[in-house]
Amino acid sequence: MAKISDSIVIRGIRIKNRIVMPPMVTFSFHGDDGHYYGRQHIAHYTARAQGGAGLVIVQATRVAGAADGTGMWTAGSLAALADIAANCRAHGAATIMQLSCGDTDINALAAADIAAMQADLRQAALIACSLGFDGVEYHFAHGFTLCKFLDAAHNKRTDRFNGDAAARTRILTELLPAIRAATRANFIIGVRMGEYLPDSRDGVTAAQTFAAAGIDLLHISFAMRPPTHAVPAGFPCSPTTWSACKIKKEVSVPVVAVNEIRTADQVRCLIESGCADLVAVGRGMLADPEFANRVLAGQPVNPCHGCGRCLWFTDHAKCPASAQG
Ligand SMILES: Cc1cc2nc3c(=O)[nH]c(=O)nc-3n(C[C@H](O)[C@H](O)[C@H](O)COP(=O)(O)O)c2cc1C
Ligand code: SF4
Repeated sequence: MAKISDSIVIRGIRIKNRIVMPPMVTFSFHGDDGHYYGRQHIAHYTARAQGGAGLVIVQATRVAGAADGTGMWTAGSLAALADIAANCRAHGAATIMQLSCGDTDINALAAADIAAMQADLRQAALIACSLGFDGVEYHFAHGFTLCKFLDAAHNKRTDRFNGDAAARTRILTELLPAIRAATRANFIIGVRMGEYLPDSRDGVTAAQTFAAAGIDLLHISFAMRPPTHAVPAGFPCSPTTWSACKIKKEVSVPVVAVNEIRTADQVRCLIESGCADLVAVGRGMLADPEFANRVLAGQPVNPCHGCGRCLWFTDHAKCPASAQG
């Protein structure tokens, strides 16, 4: 039986415990000198690594511009991201960068648009590797661009990016050999996705297809919308978290569970039951940067208040939990 304090090795990278900070855009932060990332971001991620998270997944960063150094990929932003990776490592956390393609109508994309997107998807991973990150996570969840490729009901393309699961994952999987060839041997390539694409079976097949293609880590959130399926009696977490447990049974790569996990008992139950390999705590870690250390030490956390809409989407300074933290 695994314990939350146990380390886990993924593609040669040792993650010191099972508690993960999931990707969360820090909407009201500002970069420095006109760059997207800056000192505020460095302090934010460093604090969560210092707070004991075994793995820190840095917020969704749009890959657009990775190939030409524009947008979120300016020298100033890259310097801040490199500091994040270095500081997290100094505190013993592994660090992964989430990569996203924003929110686009995939059915309207021309072949050249997709080629440019793939060039950015590839280049972004190479840059993340050169900055010192332990890996990347491609954002195939939450209805955004890459999720639309995966969803069999949404994807209406008539080219090689639609058909079976192999075709719907191809936007990434056909890049893997080139990314592997140009990154460290122990560079983690993960995917965040959901189960219903649109049916559960589609999600399971997509997860298995990613795993078979060489994806190292699956982080199961939701796809086009959150699931509404029932959870088994006694399961202490949400339907989205249950999706992770379902997919974990169907794949041999490590799986991260997430969503509304707030207590030490929930984290422990998911790991000790073998339902998931790692557990991500989002708003709980916004509310309490020391969440992981406190849970591991058996101490009470500073709890997230579960506001109707998390204020970190608009103004983090108004988060009522941070004020008490
Ligand atoms: C402010 C905020 C920003 C988020 N940004 C991202 C993101 O960049 N990428 C992503 O995949 N999910 C994002 N999410 C979703 C979280 O990663 C997580 O799945 C969600 O908050 C549920 O987990 P929780 O209940 O532990 O907070 C965000 C959530 C919040 C609250
Ligand atoms: S704003 Fe509310 S929901 Fe968001 S982290 Fe703070 S207490 Fe939790």
